[in-house]
Amino acid sequence: MESTIASMLNTQIQKEFESAYIYLGFAAFFDMKELSGFSKWYKKQAKEEEGHAMKIYDYLCRVNHPVELLPIGAPRNKPETVLQVLNQSLEHEEYVTNLISALYFQAEKEKDLFAKNFLNWFISEQIEEEQKARLLIGKYKTFGSTPEGLHSLDLELGRRIE
Ligand SMILES: [Fe+2]
Ligand SMILES: [Fe+2]
Repeated sequence: MESTIASMLNTQIQKEFESAYIYLGFAAFFDMKELSGFSKWYKKQAKEEEGHAMKIYDYLCRVNHPVELLPIGAPRNKPETVLQVLNQSLEHEEYVTNLISALYFQAEKEKDLFAKNFLNWFISEQIEEEQKARLLIGKYKTFGSTPEGLHSLDLELGRRIE
């Protein structure tokens, strides 16, 4: 029988692909506004989320748990402003942190050493993800309110490499 942690990890694969989809939706929002740097940043972010999903996929295979692919839902976010996108990104990462936290405590409950060790990477990643989202909000609030400031922020975000 499949353990709870294994089925939760399968759900997390779905959540990571849904994260990718949310960020792709944000990229599309910026493309409509001709903010191609922001869009590029969010497309990279979407790719990163797919990477997270695949990390879990590989882990499940390594520990011989069956991978079960669940349907990916459409993003529900309907942002109207740049700041809403940035705020929703942070809220989403905080939500994911809660999911990772639930996974970790379940692994602990099941005394699953491998899962705990695996999840440590995701804990560090979530610190980074939240910090990245907060930084964008801060930069936007400081520089983004003038057309010139927004333009240079767009150029800066367009330079994101990975
Ligand atoms: Fe993620
Ligand atoms: Fe993320």
